[in-house]
Amino acid sequence: MIRTTATVTSNEAILPGISRSGARTVLSSHLIWFNCPGIASQARPGQFVMVRCGDCTLPRPFSIHQVKNDHLALLFTVWEDGKGTAWLAQRQIGDSVGLLGPLGNSFTIKPTAKNLLLVAGGIGVAPLHFLAQEALTNGKSVTLLLGAQTVTQLYPENLLPGRIKLFKATDDGSFGKKGWVTGLIPEFADWADQVFACGPIGMYRDMALRKQQFRLAGKPVQISLEMRMGCGFGVCYGCTIKTTNGLKQACKDGPVFDLDEIPPDELNPI
Ligand SMILES: Cc1cc2nc3c(=O)[nH]c(=O)nc-3n(C[C@H](O)[C@H](O)[C@H](O)COP(=O)(O)OP(=O)(O)OC[C@H]3O[C@@H](n4cnc5c(N)ncnc54)[C@H](O)[C@@H]3O)c2cc1C
Ligand code: FES
Repeated sequence: MIRTTATVTSNEAILPGISRSGARTVLSSHLIWFNCPGIASQARPGQFVMVRCGDCTLPRPFSIHQVKNDHLALLFTVWEDGKGTAWLAQRQIGDSVGLLGPLGNSFTIKPTAKNLLLVAGGIGVAPLHFLAQEALTNGKSVTLLLGAQTVTQLYPENLLPGRIKLFKATDDGSFGKKGWVTGLIPEFADWADQVFACGPIGMYRDMALRKQQFRLAGKPVQISLEMRMGCGFGVCYGCTIKTTNGLKQACKDGPVFDLDEIPPDELNPI
C-alpha cells in the first residue's frame, strides 16, 4: 500500500449525464489517467485506490480501471450531489492528486479456466476492463456483457481491448438486448468457466436469487462490492458485511467476494 501524490495526465468526460426518475442524477462519467508508477506497478485487477478529493474529509474509493506502464486510469461517475467526484472531474493535466493504494484483494483467475464471462452493469465496467486486459494477455477467451440504462450510457467500444467479445443490453432497449444486462447471462453461462461481475448491488441480488434461471448454479462467480468506505484499509470498520464465513471488511477482505459468500439479504441497495 503506497500513499503518493500522482500527476494527472488526462481527464475527459467519456459519457454524458443522465437524470433518472427516483434516482440520483449523473452529470457525466470521466476517464482520468495518472502518472503513478508506484501504485501502477503493484496493482492487480479488482483492487482500488482511495482518492483524496480536495477538502472532502474522507477520501473516495475507485476501482483501478486500466494500467499502462507507469500510468493508471480511473473511470468514475460524477454525481450531481457528489462533492468528491465533482472535484475530481475538474482536475486538469499537471494537477496533483493524493492516492492511496493499491487496496483490497483482487479477482482470481483459475489457471485451468479458459473462458471468462464478465458482466458489467453501468460504471461497473471499471474494474472489469483491467481484468479483461490481464486475462487476454494470459491467453484466456473473454466475453464481456455490457449493460447501461440507455445507449448514450454504454462504455465506448473503442476503449475496450481489441480481442474481447462484446454483447450489450440497455434497460430501455435503445441498443442491444432490452432489459438488465443479467438477461444476457443464460446465453453464455454454459460456455464460461468463471464469471466476474461488477455493477449495482441489485444486480448481484438478482444473480444470487435467480441462479438456476441464469444457469449459474455451481458456477464460480466473483463480484466486486462497492460499499461506502471510510478509511479503505481496515481501520474504521465502516464497511463491515455479513458473509457465510462471518463478518468481513469489504475494503480489506474484499472488495471481491464469491457471490455464494454473501447472503442475498445483505445485497440490498444502499
Ligand atoms: C471499492 C470501491 C470501488 C469503487 N469504484 C468505483 C469506480 O470505479 N467508479 C465509480 O464511479 N465509482 C466507484 N465507487 C463508488 C464511488 O466511491 C462513489 O461514487 C464516490 O465515492 C462518491 O463520491 P462523491 O464525493 O461524488 O459523493 P459523496 O459526496 O460521497 O456522496 C453523495 C451521496 O452519495 C451517497 N454515496 C456515496 N458513496 C456511495 C456508495 N458507494 N454507494 C451508494 N451511495 C453512496 C452518499 O451517502 C451521499 O448521499 C467505488 C466504491 C468502492 C467502495
Ligand atoms: S473502509 Fe474502513 S474498515 Fe473498511
